Amino acid sequence: MTEALRLGIAGLGTVGGGVLDILARHKQLIAARAGRPIELCAVSARSRGKDRGHDLSGLTWHDDPVRLANDPSVDVFVELIGGEAGPAKAAVEAALRAGKPVVTANKALLAHHGAALARLAEGKGVALNFEAAVAGGIPVVKTIREGLVGNRLGKVFGILNGTCNYILTKMAEEGRSFADVLKEAQSLGYAEADPTFDVGGFDTAHKLAVLTALAFGVEVNLGAIDIEGIEKITLDDIRNASDMGYKIKLLGVAVSGPQGIEQRVHPTLVPKGSPVAETDGVFNAVVVKGDFVGDLMLEGRGAGAHPTASAVLSDVIDIARGSRRPVFGVPAHDLRPYEAAPPRAHEGGFYVALSLLDKPGAVAAIARSLADEHISIESIVQRGTSGTDAPRATAPFILITHNTVERNMRAALERIEADGHVASRPRMIRIERL
Ligand code: NDP
Ligand code: HSE
Repeated sequence: MTEALRLGIAGLGTVGGGVLDILARHKQLIAARAGRPIELCAVSARSRGKDRGHDLSGLTWHDDPVRLANDPSVDVFVELIGGEAGPAKAAVEAALRAGKPVVTANKALLAHHGAALARLAEGKGVALNFEAAVAGGIPVVKTIREGLVGNRLGKVFGILNGTCNYILTKMAEEGRSFADVLKEAQSLGYAEADPTFDVGGFDTAHKLAVLTALAFGVEVNLGAIDIEGIEKITLDDIRNASDMGYKIKLLGVAVSGPQGIEQRVHPTLVPKGSPVAETDGVFNAVVVKGDFVGDLMLEGRGAGAHPTASAVLSDVIDIARGSRRPVFGVPAHDLRPYEAAPPRAHEGGFYVALSLLDKPGAVAAIARSLADEHISIESIVQRGTSGTDAPRATAPFILITHNTVERNMRAALERIEADGHVASRPRMIRIERL
């Protein structure tokens, strides 16, 4: 019988627990597919005494994940702690330096240090696998790195955060508050340890930075991403968008064009009925545009213990089979420097919500500001005062534009605000007409 591959797992929380479940339930299946048994031999977590629903008695316990990484009985180090620095980074570096393959689900670490870690892994001739880091259970890393290797990719975008998609879906379908649904997403194990990373768009940005490097063969560049989260999306926005034929999704978008690369993360109106719009709940969707394959969309569970653990196991089995690829699809030393496209040059439609002061000439002034910036309006909804109450000082005024350049849209909104016909800052949400 071929010798077993021995795993050391650091982090026994949501994802680590899921990996233990699959290893226990699919022991034979995994051994058959890997061509050798895969055995857990050592673990690390913060609290040794915590009941994790698994018998850990035969395993070596390390309080310090770096010691686990250096444990000579460990063949493959699996990092499921999280965080861009601290013990996760130290332990991954220690394992790679010791010449051990690493599997990680840690997109924050890769977005901040991906290129350096890739150089370290490739310099040592070992794998650094991270299928679980992007879009949970969806095999998007392998699809781009292996399945689409014969294509030049021009665009990759999608719903990359399960927590945000769950929140936006429940708000739309059940009219529940943002805070209420966020709590539920946390209890289901979808959210990051600090959920600001989810709702603030940072987790999507981490994943997008990794996808961009893979898709376009460039250095990971998190700092180049324009990031906007979903914290300011209201039930009114969701209802208004719905009335106008759209759903709101948090998208990560990366485009490679002649002027450079554009990466952005923001809430987005997408047409109802489009595949991305119909991706609801904890599901993620990733769309890739290749020059020969055309458009391709992958959809699946983007967070949660078992879908994410499924991706971790696929990386482990690749290592057991002796398969190793360049970490970002091309050797790390050949990743091209990142060239950014000019800012705010993206062209698309926009949803604009204004709180209009009810006085003569307001609508005409707004139309003038838009026309001066060459912006044409696709539709307008003005919600008037209702009932017998005294007239309110303001009225919600919603408009949707035809395609326009973002720079012009922002300039028009600044003029509208300065004109004195609105009671608060205009709010704008981009539209992707997929
Ligand atoms: P959890 O918070 O559920 O688990 C983190 C684990 O790390 C816990 O077991 C914790 O120990 C352990 N830990 C924390 N600090 C230390 C330390 N200093 N030394 C040793 N162990 C430590 O996180 P998740 O399982 O949700 O996430 C893990 C990783 O997977 C993160 O990078 C996350 O971004 C990523 N990920 C998560 C997904 C999800 O759906 N949850 C999906 C895709 C990726 P203890 O249990 O004792 O507190
Ligand atoms: N917090 C992340 C999400 C976990 O909600 O998508 C999966 O990466």
